[in-house]
Amino acid sequence: MSVLVFGGAGYIGSHTVYELLDNGYDVVVADNLSTGHIEAVPERAKFYNGDIRDKKFVDGIFKKEKIDCVIHFAAYSLVGESMSSPLKYYNNNLYGTMNLLENMVENGVKNIVFSSTAATYGEPERIPIYEEDRTCPTNTYGETKLSMEKMMKWTEQAHGIKYVALRYFNACGAHVSGVIGEDHSPETHLIPIILQVPNGKRPYVSIFGDDYDTPDGTCIRDYIHVTDLARAHILAMEYMAKGGQSDVFNLGNGVGFSVKEIVEASERATGFKIPVKIEKRRAGDPAKLVASSQKAKNVLKWKPEFTNIEEIIKTAWLWHSTHPNGYK
Ligand code: UFG
Repeated sequence: MSVLVFGGAGYIGSHTVYELLDNGYDVVVADNLSTGHIEAVPERAKFYNGDIRDKKFVDGIFKKEKIDCVIHFAAYSLVGESMSSPLKYYNNNLYGTMNLLENMVENGVKNIVFSSTAATYGEPERIPIYEEDRTCPTNTYGETKLSMEKMMKWTEQAHGIKYVALRYFNACGAHVSGVIGEDHSPETHLIPIILQVPNGKRPYVSIFGDDYDTPDGTCIRDYIHVTDLARAHILAMEYMAKGGQSDVFNLGNGVGFSVKEIVEASERATGFKIPVKIEKRRAGDPAKLVASSQKAKNVLKWKPEFTNIEEIIKTAWLWHSTHPNGYK
């Protein structure tokens, strides 16, 4: 079975490519390398360099390769940037998805697994968050991802393309080999920022607010290992191949950790003292986001293997300590 991974040179995309290859799939990667890294794409995968918005480029891949399923990661994903440059997000995320789906329709490709996000919910109504809960994004990034999900819903009705949308909570960690990992520029995510301290790249970590309505006052998130996310994409693909219906699934560990707890776990994982400085709240941060992933467990038979936060951070530390400048 041949899988096209659009955005396969990015953080979650590249980990999914590794898992697909390890499970015997033929993998074709397409990426414009605007945020992805060619070094993250293994030689065992076939690589096409181009943009998801380029009709000829996308059509050319479907004409040259026999693709059974698409996994779609090709989108911008920075919350802050999405607020200052919303149209950039509409252009890449929505127009790109539209072009991909049009080409799937024209080339008779029937299944797509889609990289979605907890940002589709916005401020949660309750904890844990279930898939049927209110979706009311508080930023353009989440809004475009929700619109992409809806685009797939209506496309299925008209053209029969099945989709599974996976709403990730806080992706983290790195491949256990330490060969691929997280490399964003700019980096905004908590764990890689924390690990810049033991790497000698920053003197302390800024904690954005300690006056939230949580036990220690800092924000609580549900951290899920990137390899567990990668495996969910394969299960989703297999589920559709066996006749499973289009659906949306949360992916998280179902356990919340505060920012302070993540700093402490990072100290234990690295053996370094990590100084912190309390700063003002970052705009748009909900106090608490924790997933119910019961549906993915029941329907996809997904079971996260990395459940210990210290072990998860150790995998990230293996990558960051051996690649202090990322892929460069
Ligand atoms: N944080 C700090 N200091 C930092 C960086 C982050 O205190 O230097 C805090 C944030 O305020 C937040 C928590 O650490 O409370 C986690 O922040 P991240 O930026 O790592 O992750 P987010 O929860 O903001 O974002 C994640 C995904 C997004 C997605 C969002 C959904 O990375 O893609 O969840 O709400 F949109």
